[in-house]
Amino acid sequence: MSAPPQRLRADELMSAVASVVATEPDMIADMANIAAMIFEALPDLNWVGFYIWKENQLVLGPFQGRMACTRIAYGRGVCGTVARERRSLVVPDVHAFPGHIACDAASASEIVVPVIAGDRLLGVLDIDSPVRDRFSDADRIMLEKIVDLLVQAISATAV
Ligand code: SME
Repeated sequence: MSAPPQRLRADELMSAVASVVATEPDMIADMANIAAMIFEALPDLNWVGFYIWKENQLVLGPFQGRMACTRIAYGRGVCGTVARERRSLVVPDVHAFPGHIACDAASASEIVVPVIAGDRLLGVLDIDSPVRDRFSDADRIMLEKIVDLLVQAISATAV
């Protein structure tokens, strides 16, 4: 694996993620680097991380930001809703989302993308911002592509 650039810009994010995950089939290792790269490249974020689906709930995985709740039940909060509905959710104002789980009081908006391999839910990518209405449809599309890169990388090699 070639060394990633020292500081990432948003326009470099996709290709950086592609090159970093392409040669690493381990899900946790790839999630850790993806969280770090997104946190560095995109402005106005206070939390980026993954929750991993295990034992019928979401359990905290690799992340950047302040400590967070470790377990989220299926259907609870934004993350649990995405796990149930298996589609991305963009929440412009977390305080208006019924059942939102406030891990960091600074969070004002949020985007959550499901990580699905075939028909299997592996977890969710969760990103919080202190800015209301931070996430656009273009952000959603880019983050879904990043999650696709992750799923391809970990599915490419049977480990
Ligand atoms: N806000 C999320 C909980 C996770 S934290 O934001 C890191 C939710 O409502 O599911």
